[in-house]
Amino acid sequence: STIMKGEKLIMSIDQGTTSSRALLINKNLEVVGVHQESHSQVTENPGWVSHNPMEIYKNVEKCIYEVMNKHSIDKSQIQAVGITNQRETTVAWDKNTGEPLHDAIVWLDKRNEKIVEDLISTHGVDSFRQTTGLPIATYFSATKMRWMLDNSTEVKKAEDEGRLCFGTIDSWLTYCLTGGEKYLTDATNASRTMLMDLETLSWNKGMLEIFDIKQECLPQIIPESSADFGIISQSDFSGVPITGIIGDQQSACLGHTLKKGEIKSTYGTGCFILMNSGTKPIHSKNGLLTTVMYKLSEDSPTNYALEGASECGGVTIEWAKNNLGLFKDFQEFDHLLSSVEDSGGVYFVPAFSGLFSPYWRNDVRGTILGMSLHTHRGHILKALTDSIFIRCSEIIKAMEQDCEGAIEIQKVMVDGGVTKNSGLMQTQADLLDKTVVTKKEQEITAIGAGIAAGLKVGMWENSSSGDFPITIPDAQKFTPSISNAKRAEITEKWSDAIDRSLGWA
Ligand code: G3P
Repeated sequence: STIMKGEKLIMSIDQGTTSSRALLINKNLEVVGVHQESHSQVTENPGWVSHNPMEIYKNVEKCIYEVMNKHSIDKSQIQAVGITNQRETTVAWDKNTGEPLHDAIVWLDKRNEKIVEDLISTHGVDSFRQTTGLPIATYFSATKMRWMLDNSTEVKKAEDEGRLCFGTIDSWLTYCLTGGEKYLTDATNASRTMLMDLETLSWNKGMLEIFDIKQECLPQIIPESSADFGIISQSDFSGVPITGIIGDQQSACLGHTLKKGEIKSTYGTGCFILMNSGTKPIHSKNGLLTTVMYKLSEDSPTNYALEGASECGGVTIEWAKNNLGLFKDFQEFDHLLSSVEDSGGVYFVPAFSGLFSPYWRNDVRGTILGMSLHTHRGHILKALTDSIFIRCSEIIKAMEQDCEGAIEIQKVMVDGGVTKNSGLMQTQADLLDKTVVTKKEQEITAIGAGIAAGLKVGMWENSSSGDFPITIPDAQKFTPSISNAKRAEITEKWSDAIDRSLGWA
């Protein structure tokens, strides 16, 4: 779709783990422009991953500038900006100068392992679940903040002198874009820190004490994801309001306009599966997380989600291509996959840096089992891609168990790069035994933040039924096509492979 002269648009900024993007979204929720910039992944020690916060901010500025320029857009056309971001990744900066005090510690980073082990042995892994919805794990921001305070003299000094700002990427970007005017976050991002009370959507005093983090070093939590978050002050774009902030996986839920009991799975570097569990949080007994899905206005309730995170998605396919040289391009990838009917008894556990939900084990490593002289590249690739979808299936099973029959899951909405491959989506439906639905637009995550921002500035009329005024149409539906016996065989062998991989660790 082209952009008409003077057409009103929303800009969505999607700041992800590997790149930043600015997207132009029209009233029909079509993406009509995009610019993307990648940033460096700093991995100075095994298990460490950091980002340079200034590089990220500069890239975001560049994306805004380039997308406007490319499409000759005047800033008066942009009604509002929505920010969606990689969650948990933690930035520390100086309140007075606005300069970062440390590299951002990324959600994947495991340098905080010792802090996590000590907390688990003192309190028990699930002791903060009731308050925060989260198990104690390296994933969440509080232990990353603690690590910085314990290990960086700059960060500690700034804390002592009352000039330390901690924040997730949304806070950092809003702070920079508003020229230091606004120091805030929304409840979806705050719910990933392990410091927020899930019910009151405010910082929890008890958690702050346990982690020994001062509230003045944290941003103000705005409970809503669609709100006035500040006005951009940067010259090329000054005066445009930020009216959407939402963590990227929650944003995808909004992009899918998930209803209660519906599930979405986003396939990116990893896979993130969230179920809209309604207006009451469900506390998981099966290794999942409870998180704020979104609250859209002051008088609308908070919607919660059950979430399962799998560490393996696109990263598994990239590893097969770049590290194993299993295929050279996606033509060969498709050819290899279609050369086999199944994995020929090969099973692969993609635990390159541990297993997230529902295992939460950092020490597990990848395993490949069941090879014979008959095994060829196609079987190994099939085992690898199956593993991505089996991990998603086990997370969805855990969700069903957590719902104890109260919610019946019938279909899963999907988005992300691999959903373009219908063979892979059929595999997901087969292994899951549920209908898998793709959407007409690919950029569901960015569109979610666009919806949050646009709702606040009246881009769409609110419908009287309480339903969303606008949704993205479905594209394709995949229904399960393998026998129950075949599925049971795969599941059983997979469990065996996981047990062996856990045991080896
Ligand atoms: O929780 C981490 C998640 O928000 C990262 O998403 O798409 O940047 O890999 P992504």
